[in-house]
Amino acid sequence: MSQGRALITGGAGFLGSHLADALLADGWNVVVVDNLLTGRRANLAHLRNEPRFEFVEKDICQPFDVGKIDYVFHFASPASPEDYHAHGIETLRVGSIGTFHALEVARKYSAKYLVSSTSECYGDPLEHPQKETYWGHVNPVGPRSVYDEAKRFTEAATVAYRRYHNVDVRIARIFNTYGPRMQIRDGRVVPTFVRQALLGEDLTVFGDGNQTRSFCYVSDEIDGFLRLANSDEHLPVNIGNPNEFTILECAQLVLKVTGSRSRIRNEPLPQDDPKQRRPDINKARQLLGWEPKIDLETGLRLSLEYFKKAVAEDTAAAR
Ligand SMILES: NC(=O)c1ccc[n+]([C@@H]2O[C@H](COP(=O)([O-])OP(=O)(O)OC[C@H]3O[C@@H](n4cnc5c(N)ncnc54)[C@H](O)[C@@H]3O)[C@@H](O)[C@H]2O)c1
Repeated sequence: MSQGRALITGGAGFLGSHLADALLADGWNVVVVDNLLTGRRANLAHLRNEPRFEFVEKDICQPFDVGKIDYVFHFASPASPEDYHAHGIETLRVGSIGTFHALEVARKYSAKYLVSSTSECYGDPLEHPQKETYWGHVNPVGPRSVYDEAKRFTEAATVAYRRYHNVDVRIARIFNTYGPRMQIRDGRVVPTFVRQALLGEDLTVFGDGNQTRSFCYVSDEIDGFLRLANSDEHLPVNIGNPNEFTILECAQLVLKVTGSRSRIRNEPLPQDDPKQRRPDINKARQLLGWEPKIDLETGLRLSLEYFKKAVAEDTAAAR
């Protein structure tokens, strides 16, 4: 039984490709539009022969129309620090121009709309844990501003399309998510530590390692998106794991799960690195009946086979 036709912008990326799997499993037809800036065809290779799936290689900063759509999931944007530093202008463009184009698709076809926003909207927060009502503490001209401000603009454009054009929108504020299909060289904490551990290299911890992060396993995150997609909430909802770890604790857990004998090495803290990040998920709990189920150690174990394969491929490619 078909649920209708869903568009995923950025669906060749880490989260978008898992979302494609979940929507197909839920009975949707899925069309992915992606320019492969930071995503990979390999993330969708298993869907090659799926008749309910289409892939369109396209930059969404150009106007686009892939026919009638019932639900727009707007996920296109470089997301990792390595990627948005390398592609700063593209990040601002896709967050602004690309977002308008995604919203226009929703407006044209009276489709529902869900956008992937981020905990980066809170910047280096002065409130802890972060509730959706917190407006954030963001440096508009710092090195992370290309991403943070693009996403804040994305949220502003999204609520404006609801206010002025009555588009039926949802905003997921995503916190650090990890799992299979992440790029192993994207600078995010989990793949970096796992790669270093598997290669027997030192694990690089910035500062004293007492800054905290929370890590959500990808299947929990996708479950949160689907519940939000089926809800009527139009204002932002935090979707992330509230269990807080110091970066040092995370490094130690990676050593345990991989059985690696790597050592931990401290390096200087980058500018504007947030000291604490943890979602307050009471809104998601109450509104969506959602909370994550998979703890960090279990999620690392579930990801290990993928990371081993990715590290082996990366090493072979470098030869
Ligand atoms: N992974 C996380 O922990 C996390 C946290 C917060 C927010 N998010 C958000 O979730 C979304 C997906 O993140 P991800 O981790 O899957 O990143 P990703 O880089 O793996 O995926 C992003 C995808 O967007 C595509 N893309 C970028 N610019 C495009 C353009 N102009 N036109 C078409 N496609 C374009 C890329 O090629 C890529 O496939 C992003 O919007 C990101 O900001 C992710």
